[in-house]
Amino acid sequence: MSAPVLTIDGPSGAGKGTVSRLLARKLGWHYLDSGSIYRALAIAVQEQAVDLENIQELVRTASTMALEFDCGDALVVRLDNQDITAQLGLESTGYSASIVAALPEIRLVLLQKQRDFLKMPGLVADGRDMGTVVFPETPYKVFLTASNAKRAERRYKQLKEKGIDANLSSLAKEIEERDRRDRERITAPLSMASGALFIDSSDMTIDAVINQVLNHYFPA
Ligand code: DC
Repeated sequence: MSAPVLTIDGPSGAGKGTVSRLLARKLGWHYLDSGSIYRALAIAVQEQAVDLENIQELVRTASTMALEFDCGDALVVRLDNQDITAQLGLESTGYSASIVAALPEIRLVLLQKQRDFLKMPGLVADGRDMGTVVFPETPYKVFLTASNAKRAERRYKQLKEKGIDANLSSLAKEIEERDRRDRERITAPLSMASGALFIDSSDMTIDAVINQVLNHYFPA
């Protein structure tokens, strides 16, 4: 019997990361932040100065990058033995990630890397195509969204808390552009999986979102 998986898909800033991490803790399951894999690739591509037009080199970079997730009290991510945790959270990294993520060849290489995270007793997987492409067989799917204004506001707060300087209106524009690219790409675009539980978190607390998911799929 394979391990169960709960997928949480949605646009950036909907609260997927926080909600998924807490749900994984409550359920005692593993956690996959698939966005960080695309973000790590964007960093590798930049560091190795790979030409974005050179698909073969991009594919080579994606298949050879050695990623390590150290899930202690605070998550530490290493790329080829180098700590990239701080760089990973930058808005510019998310933006570049969304560009490399639009390439079908790249998505194919990263598909198995993501499926390898599925282990007993279960997995909470957060991203854009977790319920549609990576784990389509699972009956536990959530589509989490929020209004554009709320999502920009949340990202702004998150960046400020990390001590990263940000401008709310340019952040809102960048998020909108990134979402449009994620929704409109040909391969595995951001879309709601059929049968997914739809949640608009605009006016909800994190606890309320978590309770709605648990009551719906795993009632006590
Ligand atoms: O969730 P995030 O902001 O860390 O994701 C960064 C980018 O990576 C996002 O804009 C699109 C891409 N991504 C993707 O294409 N598929 C995923 N499952 C997760 C992220």
